[in-house]
Amino acid sequence: MTPKIAAFLCDSAPATPCLVLDVDRVETNYRRLKAALPLARVYYAVKANPAAPILERLTGLGSSFDAASWEEVQSCLEAGARPDAISFGNTVKKVSAIQAAYAAGVRMFAFDSEPELKKLAQHAPGAKVYCRILVENKGAEWPLSRKFGCEVEMARDLMILARDWGLDPYGISFHVGSQQTTTGAYQAAIARVAMVFSDLREAGVKLRMVNLGGGYPVRYRAEVPEIGEFGDAIMGAMVQHFGNDLPEMLIEPGRFMVGDAGVVSAEVVLVSRKGADDPVRWVYLDIGRFGGLAETEGEAIKYAFRTPHDGTREGPVTIAGPTCDSTDTLYEKSNYRLPLALECGDRVELMATGAYVTSYAAQSFNGFKPLAEHYI
Ligand SMILES: Cc1ncc(COP(=O)(O)O)c(C=O)c1O
Repeated sequence: MTPKIAAFLCDSAPATPCLVLDVDRVETNYRRLKAALPLARVYYAVKANPAAPILERLTGLGSSFDAASWEEVQSCLEAGARPDAISFGNTVKKVSAIQAAYAAGVRMFAFDSEPELKKLAQHAPGAKVYCRILVENKGAEWPLSRKFGCEVEMARDLMILARDWGLDPYGISFHVGSQQTTTGAYQAAIARVAMVFSDLREAGVKLRMVNLGGGYPVRYRAEVPEIGEFGDAIMGAMVQHFGNDLPEMLIEPGRFMVGDAGVVSAEVVLVSRKGADDPVRWVYLDIGRFGGLAETEGEAIKYAFRTPHDGTREGPVTIAGPTCDSTDTLYEKSNYRLPLALECGDRVELMATGAYVTSYAAQSFNGFKPLAEHYI
């Protein structure tokens, strides 16, 4: 937790549940990424947290943006981003969204299929297009495999088609899965991209860009490699496969940029047991899966907790949210332990919750209001 967040929580004691996010920390993370990968242009993945203060700060720093929808494109423009700093990175776009983005001046679009490419040829003539390929997501705690991307052979054929349809065949993208904990995933993906580059060169199409996607991890309960290790691995693989003919490099960090900048402040609503001798206590919070903690699905992302009793004796717990839905159970199998002194009314903090929380929160499931947000 940054000192600014700690002071805000102490001085203001905002109503829970809420997210408190230190925008200075986002700037620090942007600079850390630039230092780790100085040759890459940063396209912040807006979906991780689309709040205006974040987009405005990043615009001021010269960041570009990866938008998933026309609405996200609009948010970037409203924050002062130039249209040429926006990539429409979703490979599944409504025609109306493509038209609106193109009319607003956006000229970079992702695709992974022929029907999507056809839409782009019709509604975004001459635009720079890049094809997302399927890559291994092993090592990712929140995998993004299968739904997006195509086989490399298909990518090759589609890029030739892109040229023939009057589009600018710009490059290739991939995503190694979010919260990727291994640097090798990027190295393997870059090797696949290099194959597509060389196949296309032989076919007379010279690609110019590699989009390395997101995936850079945040420390939750377990240690993760430093961002510098990802930078070194990526640059090593780029030089190995492209030599001194390096293409432009783009990265689309979401989680890394905002994750550790935010803390959710929550309240314990109930501590109970299912039987008198049951060693496991159930701890119910005023935030759960539907309040924004969607990434606890399958206990994939394991947030760290802070309580007022840290350092005292602990016991095993199951942690759940406040709604009348049994899928609103956050952690049952991940060996969470919390202080035995924890009781109803205690405030607890969920660390590193700046990414993929507020935008997942339901509007009023079970009547609970959307998660409150404080950007400081
Ligand atoms: C196209 C694209 N780029 C970037 C990201 C951001 O990934 P991460 O938050 O793991 O950095 C995502 C996440 O879903 C994505 O779909």
